[in-house]
Amino acid sequence: MQKIGVIGGGTMGAGIAEVCIKAGSEVIIIEAKPEFVESAQKRVSTSLGKAVSRGKISQEDADAALARLTVTVDYDTLADRDLVIEAAPENLDLKRQIFARLDEVTSAEAILATNTSSIPVIQVATATKKPARVVGVHFFNPVPVMPLVEIISTLVTDEKIADTVADYVKNTLGKTVVRAGDQSGFIVNALLIPYLCQAIRMYASGYATAEDIDAAMVGGCGYPMGPLTLCDTVGLDIALAASESLYAEFGEPHLAPPPLLRRMVEAGQLGRKSGQGFYNYSK
Ligand code: 3HC
Repeated sequence: MQKIGVIGGGTMGAGIAEVCIKAGSEVIIIEAKPEFVESAQKRVSTSLGKAVSRGKISQEDADAALARLTVTVDYDTLADRDLVIEAAPENLDLKRQIFARLDEVTSAEAILATNTSSIPVIQVATATKKPARVVGVHFFNPVPVMPLVEIISTLVTDEKIADTVADYVKNTLGKTVVRAGDQSGFIVNALLIPYLCQAIRMYASGYATAEDIDAAMVGGCGYPMGPLTLCDTVGLDIALAASESLYAEFGEPHLAPPPLLRRMVEAGQLGRKSGQGFYNYSK
């Protein structure tokens, strides 16, 4: 697999495109609107620039990688793709529309994947006429740095297809692969999101400050960042969507989104990307 499509050039889509072009694949990012094209391109080049300044990749290799990237709004360019990874917002209707469109524009041999963080993959796969060729491929933020990718097979995924994608992710992208069944949250978010929600409830109750909750989990458990900093990094809208999916799937009270999480998203406080979350990033 060398020709990859990525739907959406936001944080996750740009990160996925970056690791693919660094690994030698040719990538087309499809953006939703022409005015988003430039910022998607910039997201990838900025992150590659960071990798260069940290000595992770040479300037020459970064330039060669960028030359393998195209950003466009034209779905018809996906006709020759081996694998298309959807990284659009966590909205089932939107993802189903995208997959129905991908079904039309890609070849019969193309593999379609979703980077959904918590929506069961079959709910997206049934928007296509070839659900056996649809898998979940879940990357973690920041994609260039986090080693893990979860590969999710639905009840109808052809296991050869899942194996092909796992082989690409492991042997070409150099990521660690874990396989999971098709339940909301897969492995990581099923464990992580209740923990993040519990930290938000603790903070909302006034029991401890944001700084102390974070310092406790960093210093007490060796986590690289505390739960509220992690919420800000992942994006509060993403955490909310994941919590809603998990609650819809399992109906357990501890999975329900805390009211403060909803209020912050409604107020536009999405974390690092909006400049305000549990912490302020405007400076
Ligand atoms: N390209 C390549 N490498 C990069 C890079 C880039 N753009 N940016 C940073 N790096 C490398 C650095 O060189 C460094 O590598 P080294 O240790 O070999 O020198 C390493 O990444 C760490 O970078 P920093 O030292 O600058 O940063 P920190 O030590 O502060 O670590 C972090 C940052 C890796 C983000 C760390 O805080 C962390 O692991 N946080 C937790 C992140 C996490 O849990 N993510 C998962 C969220 S859940 C999710 O995404 C799922 C979704 O569905 C909700």
